[in-house]
Amino acid sequence: MAPLGTLRSSVLLATVLLLSFLLNFLVLASSLDTRTTPNSDLQTLLCLKAHLSDTAGQLASWKNDSLQFCSWAGVRCSKTRPSRVFALDLGSFELNGQIPACIANLTYLARIHFPNNQLSGPIPRELGQLNRLQYLNLSSNHVSGSIPDTLSSCSLLQIIDLGGNSLQGVIPPNLSQCLNLQELVLQHNSLNGGIPEGLGMLQNLSVLHLAGNSLTGEVPLSLGCKSSLTAVVLTNNSLTGPIPSCLANSSSLQVLDLTNNHLDGEIPYALLNSRSLKIISLAMNKFVGCHTFFIRESFFPYQALACIQQS
Ligand SMILES: *[C@@H]1O[C@H](CO)[C@@H](O)[C@H](O)[C@H]1NC(C)=O
Ligand SMILES: *[C@@H]1O[C@H](CO)[C@@H](O)[C@H](O)[C@H]1NC(C)=O
Ligand SMILES: *[C@@H]1O[C@H](CO)[C@@H](O)[C@H](O)[C@H]1NC(C)=O
Ligand SMILES: *[C@@H]1O[C@H](CO)[C@@H](O)[C@H](O)[C@H]1NC(C)=O
Ligand SMILES: *[C@@H]1O[C@H](CO)[C@@H](O)[C@H](O)[C@H]1NC(C)=O
Ligand SMILES: *[C@@H]1O[C@H](CO)[C@@H](O)[C@H](O)[C@H]1NC(C)=O
Ligand SMILES: *[C@@H]1O[C@H](CO)[C@@H](O)[C@H](O)[C@H]1NC(C)=O
Repeated sequence: MAPLGTLRSSVLLATVLLLSFLLNFLVLASSLDTRTTPNSDLQTLLCLKAHLSDTAGQLASWKNDSLQFCSWAGVRCSKTRPSRVFALDLGSFELNGQIPACIANLTYLARIHFPNNQLSGPIPRELGQLNRLQYLNLSSNHVSGSIPDTLSSCSLLQIIDLGGNSLQGVIPPNLSQCLNLQELVLQHNSLNGGIPEGLGMLQNLSVLHLAGNSLTGEVPLSLGCKSSLTAVVLTNNSLTGPIPSCLANSSSLQVLDLTNNHLDGEIPYALLNSRSLKIISLAMNKFVGCHTFFIRESFFPYQALACIQQS
């Protein structure tokens, strides 16, 4: 019996040794992991904090002495790469200052949500290096300069909201290389030039909101031909020419607001027959025989429009 007991205890000992070796190995491996990859994201977050003035102390948890940056306020890390920053949710954080170029070193970043702050200065061109970026929301800040055409390199971008800023210059035509784009919101800036024709070719484009700029030229003829547009809001610009017939024929369009432009021509019959439209406003344009009208859902059926056109 004794030898069996000895055998049992030595097996037990061996198991314990093996387990503790494995445990040590795991601890070592994970500490190596936190010393290599995450440190770069840690440094980048500290760079971000150093460049933004945090008047309300919302970034108080962003301290160097803690390596747990995945639990810092507004920081979310990737599920597949737990040490890499996946999302920055810093909406209404009362942040001042300029977004630094070093943000582009967060190469796993998919979501930048910085609305309702006092961010100023230009949007760094380096954002174009974030090839995992899907969502960019800098709305309601004081960001100026032009929209970097480098954003077109972010091929996974689905949402761009830069509304309510002081952006100037043109809408970069090569934004239409962002084949996954679903929502382009650039309202209330000082953008000029035309609406890029290529935007009409984006199959997944659903929302195009460009109100309150100084856009000129015609509404792209291709708009509505390829895409599943649900809302087109081009209010308060200086657009000319007719309503494109693809747009008028669109079976997905629910909101069309073209108020206060210089659009002319006939109002397409297809628009009056639309089954999808819920809100339409064409007022303050130069349409043939039609000076002002503003129809909402409650005003249906559309046949009512025919009379207003006589005025
Ligand atoms: C962060 O802390 C380390 C060690 O505690 C120090 O060497 C480094 O300079 C600090 N970095 C910053 C940006 O404060
Ligand atoms: C970003 O990464 C580059 C190299 O990849 C490095 O030269 C640069 O210093 C980094 N910037 C910051 C602010 O960490
Ligand atoms: C976008 O267009 C600009 C000017 O036409 C060009 O300089 C830039 O390289 C283009 N960007 C991409 C990613 O193609
Ligand atoms: C951007 O953020 C604001 C504030 O949270 C939100 O209201 C808006 O819908 C967002 N934009 C898009 C396109 O999701
Ligand atoms: C559009 O979206 C669908 C489904 O969301 C996706 O499968 C498709 O790849 C997208 N199309 C493009 C051109 O990105
Ligand atoms: C258009 O301008 C008018 C007058 O300034 C304003 O009341 C309205 O909210 C603007 N519409 C949009 C959609 O920006
Ligand atoms: C729009 O629909 C009308 C018929 O309602 C049709 O005659 C016209 O060719 C259509 N236009 C396009 C671009 O599909």
